[in-house]
Parts: sequence; C-alpha cells; structure tokens
Amino acid sequence: MMIAKGPYVPVPMRIEKVTVETEDRSIKTFDLSFIHKEDERAFRYLPGQFAQLSVFGKGEAPFGIASSPTRAGLLQFTISRAGLLTSALHQMEHGDLVGIRGPLGSSFPLQEMEGRDLLVIGGGFAFTTLRSLINYVLERDNRSRFGKLTVVYGARTPGMLLYKGELEQWRQRDDPKLHVTVDAANGDWKGRVGVVPDVVGDVAAAADDAYAVVCGPPAMTRYTLLVLERLHFPPERVVLSLEMKMKCGIGMCGRCNIGSSYVCREGPAFTLAELRRLPPEY
Ligand SMILES: Cc1cc2nc3c(=O)[nH]c(=O)nc-3n(C[C@H](O)[C@H](O)[C@H](O)COP(=O)(O)OP(=O)(O)OC[C@H]3O[C@@H](n4cnc5c(N)ncnc54)[C@H](O)[C@@H]3O)c2cc1C
Ligand code: FES
Repeated sequence: MMIAKGPYVPVPMRIEKVTVETEDRSIKTFDLSFIHKEDERAFRYLPGQFAQLSVFGKGEAPFGIASSPTRAGLLQFTISRAGLLTSALHQMEHGDLVGIRGPLGSSFPLQEMEGRDLLVIGGGFAFTTLRSLINYVLERDNRSRFGKLTVVYGARTPGMLLYKGELEQWRQRDDPKLHVTVDAANGDWKGRVGVVPDVVGDVAAAADDAYAVVCGPPAMTRYTLLVLERLHFPPERVVLSLEMKMKCGIGMCGRCNIGSSYVCREGPAFTLAELRRLPPEY
C-alpha cells in the first residue's frame, strides 16, 4: 500500500560521514544519503535553500544545505552545536538515521546572477550555503554562465575555518579569487588578519554589473553592507540570507514572519531591496 507523504513528514537519511570542521569540535559536517531512491529523485534543490533536519525523539531544526546540487545523491549540512537537537546530532555517527523535510525556502537568485561577476562574502558557520553556491558556479557545466567569482571568507581564528581542504583546492586553482581572513592569528598562520568588511573594502572592485551575496554574523553583515554601499552596489544586487527562528518551515505556523512575509517561504534569501520594503524586525 502506498502511504501519502505530507509536508510535515520527514524522509529517512543515513549518515555516511561526519567531519569535525573546527579545532574546538563545535562544528561538524554531516554527509547524508537517501535511503529510498524516490526520495532522492524528489529532493530537487538549489544553493541557498534549507531543510528541516530531525533527530528522532529530539525534534527538528532548520539548516542551510551546504552541498551543491551538482553532487548527486549526497546532502551535506554543517552544524554548530547550539542546543538540544544539535548536541544529539553531534553524538551521532556513520550509519545512524536522521529525518529530512525539504528542500525549503528560496534559493539565491541564480537566474538574475547569470552573466554577472559574483562577490561572495561569508563569516562563521553561515558560510555553508555560500559554499553550496561556490561549488555550483564552479561546476564545469555552469561555470561559463557566470562572470568572475570572488570570495571573501572570515573566521575568528585559523582553527575555526570550515572546509579547509576545499579552501586549499580553490586557492590552488585560482578560481574563485579567494581571500581568507581571520580576526586573530595563531600557530603558523601566514594568511590575512583582519575583519571581513575591511578585506571586502580592500579587494572588491566597484559594483559595475556584479552581484554581492552576504551571509554571516549580524555585525559582519552590517559593516559589510556599508562597504558595499560605498562600492555602489545597488540594493537590488545585494543578497542576504536571514536566520529567523522557525517551526514549520512551510509558511503555516507564523513563527518566522516579518510583516506579511514568511522568511521560511519567501526567504531565507532576500535582496537588500526586498528587505528594505519590510518592517525592520530582522
Ligand atoms: C534558514 C536557517 C538556516 C540555518 N542554517 C544553519 C546551519 O547551516 N548550521 C547551523 O549550525 N545552524 C543553522 N541554523 C540555526 C539552527 O537552526 C539553530 O541553531 C537550531 O535551533 C539549533 O537547534 P537546537 O535544538 O540544537 O538548539 P535550540 O535548543 O533550539 O537553541 C539553542 C540556542 O540557539 C538559539 N537559536 C535557536 N534558533 C536560532 C536561530 N534561528 N538563530 C539564532 N539563534 C537561534 C536559541 O535561542 C538558543 O540560545 C539555521 C537557521 C535557519 C532559520
Ligand atoms: S516557520 Fe512556520 S511560517 Fe515560517
């Protein structure tokens, strides 16, 4: 008998791999595979979207999708240990099962971004969906649809940088143009020291026709927006991703609204122009 699946029903996924990303072990990346082929076929996503991830008996929470849809059959989430659900998740291992609802929300505006240079700016664990975007753009079949790709990524210390192996690969191939920075250096760090908005001010070209995509902690975002304004990026070509508290993830419970807009459905990706039309509640 076929059982109809509603929007609140998670599909099962298996943890294939757990990678400890940061030296304090507070952030881990989970590689997940679908148990059922039909669930894999139905899960069509684009960079910027999120999913509700559940641990049985603990609950569920929203997480940005860190993998790129160009890698078939695999979903990755990079998760910071914050409370009940994420602590339980951090205890889980290869072979354990979790639930997934999604994909949810809006992607980055990829069609509008086509043919333009991209300036991708991230800090902290909010870099996850930007990493999805970068890998999507770098994919051979997609690369010619976008212009120059510049990435500014910052963490508090070198040990808190995510995806260190991938950063090294990008650095070696020189595409994207990568600028990694840390607030405070330690150990044998030979890279840049300084906060993300300052680095953006140093390395970013004037806006011309480019899009900027910004995901990071509130202070980083606030000061970065000032720099982008100075570089004449119009609000229509600055994209942000909001992390409001959420429950249903599908526009039904009213938990995440800003004015009449539901962040889980119309967002989490918004242009600055769209956000300025909403009440300043985010
Ligand atoms: C669209 C979206 C994408 C997200 N992507 C990621 C991601 O890629 N990786 C990741 O680690 N986290 C991400 N988050 C945040 C994550 O959903 C929360 O940290 C989640 O509540 C953790 O669940 P928990 O049960 O472990 O913690 P909880 O017990 O729910 O809370 C732990 C602490 O975090 C605070 N908190 C809960 N939700 C949020 C929130 N949305 N923003 C700020 N503080 C919050 C609580 O007030 C509390 O202090 C995302 C959130 C949204 C809305
Ligand atoms: S989380 Fe329920 S309406 Fe957005």
